[in-house]
Amino acid sequence: MGLLEAVAESTLEGLALASKSDPDGAVGRLQIVADLADPTIKRVGRFGWRATSASVVDQTAVALNADMGVTTRALPTHICGKATAGSDCRSQDGKGPELSDSDLELLVRYTSLLAVPATRHFDGEQPLGIHAEKILAQTPAETSLQVQAENMMQSSVARGRELFVQARCTACHAATLQTGRTHRFAELRGQTIRPYTDMLLHDMGAELADTYPQGRASQQEWRTPPLWGLGLVEKIDAKVRYLHDGRARTLEEAILWHGGQGQASRDRFKAMDADDRRKLIDFLRSL
Ligand code: HEC
Repeated sequence: MGLLEAVAESTLEGLALASKSDPDGAVGRLQIVADLADPTIKRVGRFGWRATSASVVDQTAVALNADMGVTTRALPTHICGKATAGSDCRSQDGKGPELSDSDLELLVRYTSLLAVPATRHFDGEQPLGIHAEKILAQTPAETSLQVQAENMMQSSVARGRELFVQARCTACHAATLQTGRTHRFAELRGQTIRPYTDMLLHDMGAELADTYPQGRASQQEWRTPPLWGLGLVEKIDAKVRYLHDGRARTLEEAILWHGGQGQASRDRFKAMDADDRRKLIDFLRSL
């Protein structure tokens, strides 16, 4: 998360400007939000489904409060809905933050500095990894089958990456970004990252809309989600779901729901033959 935070606001402004002449009309907009600690400061939003948080600390404080009912100094009161004064919920307020600044800082450090998962099946990856004992424990025929399968997967992923670019998925899922030079964590500065997002808001059509516009974002606009780590989601959750409301059970379904500014790209995916569609999905699963 820290790497996404370390991308300069001017970089995102540049992406938004450049997208105005996008041939598919994939014009991205900046979400602008108030800094939680000092609301007079306006920042470019980049976290959350509608990019409503500008920083890891703000997103964490919002999630603690709105999702878990835990207050912090920045958000010291509970969200009690229609509960009346004196209710259990409201009577918890005024006791000071439930999570201290220093614990919040630890949470933020942890989520900021967690590594991005390595991609798999990239060109030249060792077919059997680094596990020599695996090779010793099996017959040469088994080994050769595994090497063959891995080589095929590598070429499928490489082709899928080209198809991803050709279908212009990268109009929004920007393959490469550069982090800025000023982030407080030196290890996040000046890096080339491949998050596959522009962190901008895009109109994804009526079918993906909900009824909850936020900040500058209409009910049809969503922030392009990063795709790094995408292929591992199914490994940690057999009942994996994609898109903001989890309506898609597979990556293919997630792509086919793209409407609005994503429609041209989706239609190119639909027009591919089954083999090419599989390769594009293999690429997504390698991330
Ligand atoms: C116009 C911008 C745009 C284009 C072009 C685009 N996407 Fe997306 N993509 C988005 C947005 C915005 C979302 C989130 C929508 C939502 O959650 O409702 C998304 C979501 C996804 C997801 C689900 C991610 C998740 O974690 O749930 C996948 C997979 C994906 N896109 C793949 C693709 C592929 C493949 C292409 C090209 C065929 C593509 N996208 C083209 C903007 C775009």
